[in-house]
Amino acid sequence: MHATPAPPALDLPAIQALAAADMAAVDALIRRRLASDVVLVNQVAEHLVAAGGKRLRPMLLLLAARALGHRGPDAHQLAAVVEFIHTATLLHDDVVDESDLRRGRKTANALFGNAASVLVGDFLYSRSFQLMVELDRLPVMRILADTTNAIAEGEVLQLLHVRNPDTDEPAYLKVIERKTAVLFAAATRLGALLAGAGEATQQRLHDYGLALGYAFQIADDVLDYSADEAALGKHLGDDLAEGKATLPLIHAMLHSDAATRDRLRAIVEAGEVEAMPEVLAAIEATGGLAYSRRRADDYADAAERALDGLDDNNAVAALRGLARYAVRRDR
Ligand code: IPE
Ligand code: IPE
Ligand code: MG
Ligand code: MG
Repeated sequence: MHATPAPPALDLPAIQALAAADMAAVDALIRRRLASDVVLVNQVAEHLVAAGGKRLRPMLLLLAARALGHRGPDAHQLAAVVEFIHTATLLHDDVVDESDLRRGRKTANALFGNAASVLVGDFLYSRSFQLMVELDRLPVMRILADTTNAIAEGEVLQLLHVRNPDTDEPAYLKVIERKTAVLFAAATRLGALLAGAGEATQQRLHDYGLALGYAFQIADDVLDYSADEAALGKHLGDDLAEGKATLPLIHAMLHSDAATRDRLRAIVEAGEVEAMPEVLAAIEATGGLAYSRRRADDYADAAERALDGLDDNNAVAALRGLARYAVRRDR
């Protein structure tokens, strides 16, 4: 007997085409539910939302639901919820990171100031909870309450590592799990929950999302050193400027000679972005980008493996494709 071969992973255009109708509904919902009668709220939120973004988290939720046979308005609503949460974290993150470019535009903090960004981020968080509560399902609320709390912890944990040259790979992984991966995991678990899947299948989708989130953030940290800035829509070197030791630099600090290591440590302690050429040279010499890409690939592989055992369909093929995309993207 021959096992049916799994359909090949879809590429991004095919995934986007598959999800297009649902994503249009989600986008309309996002626009509608962004509204506030406080003008500044609309201005700040619109500025960021209108700039687009990849909408990866809502897409993951929709595809996870669909992989298990569910489509419909509840999935659209929760997809909007996860994108609102993501958008809130971006508003806060750009204040903390003092970033001034996102999605190819000036950041909200650069245009409207830190206070407005933080407060509108809070608005988006609480609006996401209003949307969530409308579904009136306790397991959904539990997942999202736990997730947003973990994200907040992740951001604070990261703050504790700023300008700390002793940040090592385990500490880095702990931060990215909370600040990034848990939201991916929540998105895919919620999709499974909506589809009425049992705990074991929900856990599979959770594991897929979590591994994908790790892969996605490691890839993001590689892009911060290596992307084409225009394609990325963010400034390169933001992490170094903030004194944030991400995986490429952690690897370089571990594998450089003593003199270079001391210099890198001093650069991290000072958040010395002017030293970027030196840092890049050290990362290059130690293979820091290649190492980080391999680690991202490992997580993408783990994400794909988590899907083994699901009945195959084009949404599952799309989820597999997104695991590949997470580590090959240029923005
Ligand atoms: C940026 O997320 C924050 C990270 C977790 C790296 P995205 O790269 O998904 O941002 P947008 O929504 O596409 O702009
Ligand atoms: C992602 O970290 C932070 C969030 C989870 C919001 P980064 O600081 O690397 O994200 P970017 O590069 O600013 O998008
Ligand atoms: Mg940032
Ligand atoms: Mg980044």
